Amino acid sequence: MNILAPSMLSIDFGNIERDLKEVTLAGADTIHFDVMDGMFVPNISFGQPVFKAVRKLMPDIALDVHMMVQEPTRYLKDFESADIMTIHLEATSDVLKSVKEIKAAGLKVGLALKPATPVEELLPYLEELDMVLLMSVEPGFGGQSFRPETLDKIRLARKYMQERSLDIDIEIDGGVTSDNLPQILEAGANVIVTGSSIFNGNITDNVKRFLEIMR
Ligand code: DX5
Ligand code: ZN
Repeated sequence: MNILAPSMLSIDFGNIERDLKEVTLAGADTIHFDVMDGMFVPNISFGQPVFKAVRKLMPDIALDVHMMVQEPTRYLKDFESADIMTIHLEATSDVLKSVKEIKAAGLKVGLALKPATPVEELLPYLEELDMVLLMSVEPGFGGQSFRPETLDKIRLARKYMQERSLDIDIEIDGGVTSDNLPQILEAGANVIVTGSSIFNGNITDNVKRFLEIMR
């Protein structure tokens, strides 16, 4: 199933409620929530209090938490009402243990790779995962350009999954536009994160354009 996950990083923070309602009314049923600690990535975004407020505003929406945080499971408790928590392989000292902790808390689990990390690094964990996140920009900031080499990483990840008869979601995050979206889907990704392409301009039109391509 294809899922559109607009990234809150590009939302108008003075109008969170209004804009979240607009994306969901337009048809998006998942929100991507980027947590940054200023250590794993050079930027700081938002954390637990904002997460709580968003959950309260949107009790039924799926929240897809992307932890760009060193040793992310330290904060697992605060995000227990998320649907899925994705952690970075590069930021986690004991990946298997952290993956198991997230599952034991009742959440789905994703494992993310920065652009330079080879897909093969996922292989020891594949059986345990609900989702793989292949970053298509260097994590830390919205509004960057999609790295085309990500397409080969998607194909390779799909191939490894097929060889093991696994049907795991592949999420792409960074620089996705309605122009490169067809190629990204074609390569085998099915969870699409997009920040600036949704929240800049007319939100409803942007969501509808993306969903039309994804259908
Ligand atoms: C970047 C974040 C992304 C970001 C994507 O580190 O993980 O989720 O919001 O923004 P765009 O779609 O503008 O590249
Ligand atoms: Zn993200």
